[in-house]
Amino acid sequence: MKKILFFLLAIAVIDFACTPKASPAVTEATIPSGTAVSNDAGTIEAGHVLFTTKCTQCHKEKPIRKWTYEKLRPVLGAMVRKAKLTTTEIGQVSAYVHANSKK
Ligand code: HEC
Repeated sequence: MKKILFFLLAIAVIDFACTPKASPAVTEATIPSGTAVSNDAGTIEAGHVLFTTKCTQCHKEKPIRKWTYEKLRPVLGAMVRKAKLTTTEIGQVSAYVHANSKK
């Protein structure tokens, strides 16, 4: 009997652990498209600051000039989530990445 209870408990724990956590979905769709991204100098500069502070917590500054903005968009979707950026900050960092990616 005890064995069965333990077994059921184990299943419950595994099931719970595998349930996807509800978190705000930041995806590629959240990153403004090439035409919607801001070209404002102040916004780009704010994004530059975020890029050198928040985006360097896990790795050095990535050579974004190597990639086009469209290539970077899905990566950015994942990265802004890792960096826990706010909606405003997402707009700023996207503006910086857009301005400095491969043309
Ligand atoms: C919580 C950690 C973390 C944060 C914060 C973070 N990244 Fe990353 N990033 C990673 C990891 C892990 C990888 C994959 C391994 C690697 O390339 O270093 C990666 C890879 C990348 C790549 C390269 C993808 C490729 O194909 O080589 C780019 C570009 C990038 N990050 C940009 C950013 C930007 C921009 C930000 C800020 C918005 C950011 N990252 C914040 C962890 C992070």
